[in-house]
Amino acid sequence: MLRAAVIVGVVAVLASVSSAAPVLEGRMTDSSSFDPPTQVHLALGDTAGASMVVSWITTNASAGHVYYGTSKDKLNTRVEQLADAERYTFQSTYGEHYVSGLIHHAKIPNLAPLTKYYYRCGADGFGYSDVFSFTTPPVVGTSKFIFSVIGDLGQTANSSSTIEHIKSDPTTNLTVIVGDLSYADSAERTTPTRNCTQRRWDSWGELVEHVFANQPLMTLPGNHEIEQEGPPPATQEKFLAYQKRFRMPWKESGATNGNLYYSFEVGPVHFIMLNSYMDFDKGSQQYEWLLQDLKKVDRSVTPWLFASMHAPWYNSNVFHHNEPEETGMRAAMEDIMFKHNVDAIFSGHVHAYERMFPVYKNKTNPEAPTYLNIGDAGNREGPAYLYFPQPKWSAYREPAFGHGRVEIFNATHAHWTWHKNLNSEATVSDDVWLVRNAAIPSSPYKHGLTPLFGRTFDGFAPYKSF
Ligand SMILES: [Fe+2]
Repeated sequence: MLRAAVIVGVVAVLASVSSAAPVLEGRMTDSSSFDPPTQVHLALGDTAGASMVVSWITTNASAGHVYYGTSKDKLNTRVEQLADAERYTFQSTYGEHYVSGLIHHAKIPNLAPLTKYYYRCGADGFGYSDVFSFTTPPVVGTSKFIFSVIGDLGQTANSSSTIEHIKSDPTTNLTVIVGDLSYADSAERTTPTRNCTQRRWDSWGELVEHVFANQPLMTLPGNHEIEQEGPPPATQEKFLAYQKRFRMPWKESGATNGNLYYSFEVGPVHFIMLNSYMDFDKGSQQYEWLLQDLKKVDRSVTPWLFASMHAPWYNSNVFHHNEPEETGMRAAMEDIMFKHNVDAIFSGHVHAYERMFPVYKNKTNPEAPTYLNIGDAGNREGPAYLYFPQPKWSAYREPAFGHGRVEIFNATHAHWTWHKNLNSEATVSDDVWLVRNAAIPSSPYKHGLTPLFGRTFDGFAPYKSF
């Protein structure tokens, strides 16, 4: 967000609500310290979608709170930031010494479901953000929900097209990003190797604010979030910027490693978010947490069970094919995903869209998860064009930028669409029904895919109307 735009916005709001709204009183007590929020974004604040975390960055304004309400003109409830605003320091191998702005997180609690809220964040004496809004998700256990899913976003014109398409869909109020966000770790190739440029996190935060200040962004780390530079004194702490800049509901979901893996529930869905770039073998913290989380899922409440990680377990693209994080994590976790009847697994990393048939141990299997690779949101590395001959488990593949959308209708039927960025339009290029057999709400049950657009897949019962 441009600072000038913030000032204009604040003045305009002051002029329009000068009489009633207590939130506005005293906001600009000291114009010399004007330091309003930048890079505002949202995340669900708990595992049930009943609270929202607002995150933002200031230069020096250490105080922070959020005013919110269900009317744009009555932001009369205030919540303080969760902890003291924090900076982090990043020393690049190649010279950049970066000290971040002050990073603030505040949690708005006790939100009603399916309700539109307005808010602004900031602090008295330093200035406030524009007024943003979000619509809360449905209560856990209800049947309908729509969300967007993307991966490998970056900050190019293609990235902007993708998030504009998400923004222009009035039916979706939550986006899952399966890792690789800013590409700050390799933003400036002034050396033969990577040159991490933390300023690119700030430009990314500004780029996405207009979308993700108005709907929660639920994300996980990709390889571009590792940002471990070396040798010392360069920064060695993996995922440093990712951990500091985001606040996912990890603690609330019983995880112990910050934003690295966690779960949450919305309406009819239990989402599991994993990290391909840390220990995942049996006995590791992540594996044992996953096992416990899978056991906790009550399919009579959340019939749909989705998992996400950055590196795909199934993909037929030549790029990033069968990397250790892909084959290793699959070897470690595929059995428990299969046993617990995960419906779909989203991944990125490969910059091309690919939808797999339900597959288990390299063979199509109607009881297995459907794999969807969606690492094509628009980063600067471009689409991955080269493919191996198409395996039997690969249903549809296309190396183009775009985003995915899941519309859950009930406990048995969800509609998956992949929207390709075609000029300025988001054009549906892949379109199937994900079908669960809800006759038995827990295992065993069959998955099915019912394609539109004339594509067919044998082996599953045909889609029936509902
Ligand atoms: Fe990646």
